[in-house]
Amino acid sequence: MKRITSFEQYEKEYKQSVENPEAFWAEQAEQFTWHKKWDKVLEWNFDEPAIKWFSGGKLNITENCLDRHLEKRGDQIAIIAEPNDPNGKVRKISYKELHTEVCRFANVLKNNGAKKGDRICIYMPMVPELAIAVLACARIGAIHSVVFGGFSFKSLSDRIHDADCNIVITADGGFRGAKDISLKSTVDEALETCPSVKKVIVLKHSKIEVTMKDGRDVWWNEEIKNVSNNCPAEIMDAEDMLFILYTSGSTGKPKGVVHTTAGYMIFVDYTFRNVFQYNDGDVFWCTADVGWITGHSYLIYGPLLAGATTLMFEGIPTYPDAGRFWNVIDKHKVNIFYTAPTAIRSLEAMGLDFVKPYKLDSLRVLGSVGEPINEEAWNWYNENIGKKKCPIVDTYWQTETGGIMISALAGITKTKPGFATLPLPGIQPVLVDEKGNELQGNGVDGRLCFKFPWPGIIRTTYGDHKRCKETYFDIYKGYYFTGDGSRRDEDGYYRITGRVDDVIKVSGHLLGTAEIENAINEHPDIVESAVVGFPHDIKGWGIYAFVICDHQRTDTDSLKKEIIQTVTKFMGPIAKPDKIQIVKGLPKTRSGKIMRRILRKIAENDLANLGDTSTLLDPSVVDEIKEGVL
Ligand code: PRX
Repeated sequence: MKRITSFEQYEKEYKQSVENPEAFWAEQAEQFTWHKKWDKVLEWNFDEPAIKWFSGGKLNITENCLDRHLEKRGDQIAIIAEPNDPNGKVRKISYKELHTEVCRFANVLKNNGAKKGDRICIYMPMVPELAIAVLACARIGAIHSVVFGGFSFKSLSDRIHDADCNIVITADGGFRGAKDISLKSTVDEALETCPSVKKVIVLKHSKIEVTMKDGRDVWWNEEIKNVSNNCPAEIMDAEDMLFILYTSGSTGKPKGVVHTTAGYMIFVDYTFRNVFQYNDGDVFWCTADVGWITGHSYLIYGPLLAGATTLMFEGIPTYPDAGRFWNVIDKHKVNIFYTAPTAIRSLEAMGLDFVKPYKLDSLRVLGSVGEPINEEAWNWYNENIGKKKCPIVDTYWQTETGGIMISALAGITKTKPGFATLPLPGIQPVLVDEKGNELQGNGVDGRLCFKFPWPGIIRTTYGDHKRCKETYFDIYKGYYFTGDGSRRDEDGYYRITGRVDDVIKVSGHLLGTAEIENAINEHPDIVESAVVGFPHDIKGWGIYAFVICDHQRTDTDSLKKEIIQTVTKFMGPIAKPDKIQIVKGLPKTRSGKIMRRILRKIAENDLANLGDTSTLLDPSVVDEIKEGVL
């Protein structure tokens, strides 16, 4: 398999990719199956924005993930599925079998009215049928919108609404540790306000009882019985939408990030092979849920495009105990392991006794994603999991970038704890100051932007192109703005310092403060709330909520519990506040804007550095909040 094999080659390839990006990416595109070759590699302008890669090209991504491999590796395992129960049945699905299953389920979709261009919502547990559903959508040219199974009915219905989906694919329920999670009942609740949905296809997976609505709901297991194994792939334009994936923003409702077919495919394939240095026959394990971009790009598409064996795990890292990840690595002889700093920190906190029983000698490469990895966690990961023999790739990227942007290439780039290191070939990062002036040289801190498009770049936010323009392309003219701060050190290495906007990374999940506030405000006794992040040892960031109650409730403990229940109900358990402080007022400017800067300092307990409070409408509010700080 072709890939960069030395640092000199990386430098050479990087130079070529900047000097002639079109030739560089065209070369990467050559290896794929195309029904018609592209007319033009790249057309772009960041003002509108309007970005097209490989226009005129015709293809189907599933032919490249599946059909292309059948001859050479039809019998190789494509997916290993490790169940929640460590004694449960492991499923191993070969490329040939996966191809058949995808074709069969694609026929089920067609029988249920799905057509090219439809939006199909997938709300499922981490089982192979989730990957099959994703690929079956792509097979027939339907656009998948996967929603993380931990989101509540309200988050689900908002996403179904926004994308105007006509089909939902779900399961009766799933297993997460000792808990059974019901999914179908959440779908039922969500669909009360989603008239666009005409069909719900339900996988029988757990023992959870469900009600099936006549005419709308069908069982996957029944529908799949009488369909053909054959489903020709729909021929797609290079720029046809492949999927929508929702991500949180600083204001209001989540944005539907749109990725298109050819560019995304070429970018995830290139980054997968090079960053992880995948060798034929390796077992690759990405622990992310498919509900997030990491699961899309490096659990499904990237590995399958490369003809890899990808592992899917339904359970959680602490069930039946905190040694489960290490147990799975030994059991399936995992060679490349890709997880999030929050998981590393929480397992580190459980102690080494959970690691010691395992050999971990199959491991060759370790990866980290989703948030900055602190030096302590990096060292623990390196020493105890990698046994100081496995390079760690700290991969920086975003839902909007489609794939990895800044990262070491495993074993090739010299790593430094806490640094994502260097941009991949084809990626041109810049740091700008607050006014958008590009910072030259090394040893600088600024806001991270990219000045040239790459094939996996976001094309639009679904149904609202203006929002895409305003969020990413208008803030610093001529650049794509990430929303992150970063340092570029003396060696030109990038260290991401975190978000500079009103979103927080909680356990690696991006959450909008406005979204959490809206959920809190659903509680009948809450008049107003303000949410900020505070540093948290395990989660990276925790959620601190300041809330104003409309009448004096003395039972503050039960009020706080109710608020947590409300957030769980309207958003999901990942958005539960860690700290709730009941306040009489919030620090607002005379124009009514909440000064979050002050609240952030209070939440961090940095009370001596609140800065200027004289412009507040009522500066005394701050004293009251300071006194009650948690
Ligand atoms: O703040 C950065 C952080 O995660 C954000 C993107 O989140 P999301 O779209 O959910 O995608 C996560 C998985 C790619 C970024 O804006 N982030 C991601 N990776 C890193 C990171 N921060 C520091 N280091 C990383 N390696």
